Amino acid sequence: MRALDWQRKIYLNGFAGITPAIPPDFSQLEQAASRRLSPEAVAYIMGGAGHEQTIHANRKGFDRWKLVPRMLRNVENPDLSVELFGQKLATPIVLAPIGVLEMAHPDADLAVAKAATQLRIPFIFSNQASVSMEECSAVMGDHLRWFQLYWSRSRELVASFVHRAEACGCGAIVLTLDTTMLGWRTRDLALGYLPFLHGKGLAQYTSDPVFQQLLDDFIKQSPATTRPSITSTTLQHLLGAIRRYPRGSFIDKLRSGRAIGAVSLFSSIYTNPTITWDDLSFLRQQTRLPIVLKGIVHPDDARKAIDYGMDGLIVSNHGGRQVDGTISTIEALPGVVDAVKGRLPVLLDSGIRGGADVVKALALGARAVCLGRPYVYGLALGGQAGVETVLQHVLADLELTLCLSGHKSVAELAPDSLRAA
Ligand SMILES: Cc1cc2nc3c(=O)[nH]c(=O)nc-3n(C[C@H](O)[C@H](O)[C@H](O)COP(=O)(O)O)c2cc1C
Repeated sequence: MRALDWQRKIYLNGFAGITPAIPPDFSQLEQAASRRLSPEAVAYIMGGAGHEQTIHANRKGFDRWKLVPRMLRNVENPDLSVELFGQKLATPIVLAPIGVLEMAHPDADLAVAKAATQLRIPFIFSNQASVSMEECSAVMGDHLRWFQLYWSRSRELVASFVHRAEACGCGAIVLTLDTTMLGWRTRDLALGYLPFLHGKGLAQYTSDPVFQQLLDDFIKQSPATTRPSITSTTLQHLLGAIRRYPRGSFIDKLRSGRAIGAVSLFSSIYTNPTITWDDLSFLRQQTRLPIVLKGIVHPDDARKAIDYGMDGLIVSNHGGRQVDGTISTIEALPGVVDAVKGRLPVLLDSGIRGGADVVKALALGARAVCLGRPYVYGLALGGQAGVETVLQHVLADLELTLCLSGHKSVAELAPDSLRAA
């Protein structure tokens, strides 16, 4: 729906006494979601690394840039479309990969996949999704989706994920580089809570034939690890993990140790701090899909990505969840854009909260942005409909900010649309 229609709908509803259930303002959205979520989900979704300085920097970074609106330019019905990897996107927004969405809502990734399809926004399936890529693809028809990959300790598993992504119609592989181990996430640590240990966010693994094979071997080799000693709390958590494991009856899962084994195996292979640039050639050999590196903030790394034959970059600091005290992504963007000199598209995430943020990122050279936490809050508050409402709010805000600052298309955005504060 175009911005003015969405805006009119909200005001007409208000005239009838109905105000939006999903707040258009990000702070209110976040507060409403935090009231709905469990303490563990609040910590996992809203929290960041260390003192959370990077989360704050991501927002402050946008404040350093100001729009300078231009007048009398006929800005009716602007063109929001952009081109990425030979595909035309209706808008410059993509949904960032977010793991463990079942913590926000039981419909999890499926609700987001449906909302993305409705709103014609591409969805990046997370490696840590709660619903497998095949199930999500099945509800998306031929709508655009990509797959985000973590490089695990098993190259066979890496290859299997990539081949499955190709088979279920993903249009690109997004390799996340900033999570070769988990950051020091103080809120999660304070609760001693990691969702994966409870069997959450493992759907891409439990649905994978290579992972199942690895699990057979793992159970044979290490029965002790798969049958931990039982206290009342571990029993409660183990039962939860067993319930969540998708295959077999409860009794079979309990007897075979498969559900608990899957969690243990996952923990031992999920990240791989040994990877280097040279490993990228393995990924390149596995697929002809575009490969997008997520987590690039240094211009030299951007140049290296070109040398290693990569197809795109996402300037990201993982929403401040990995390294405390880093450069904000909007600060990093101009250096990266300058380094690649148009040879590959650059996207940006971390801190996108509204239309002005998107406009600023595009003006500084991003081809598109990835939206993260805001859509998770919409999911928490209203499932698929909640995600759709958040996306409508952001798209309307983007369209109005673009027009009212004097642009008839996102292609017109350039650094001179902005002034540094
Ligand atoms: C709860 C949560 C889970 C995430 N899971 C993943 C993931 O599985 N893979 C990934 O590449 N990035 C993941 N991210 C990072 C996002 O893709 C994105 O970089 C980040 O959300 C951007 O920051 P913002 O949401 O504050 O704008 C996650 C972020 C959050 C908040």
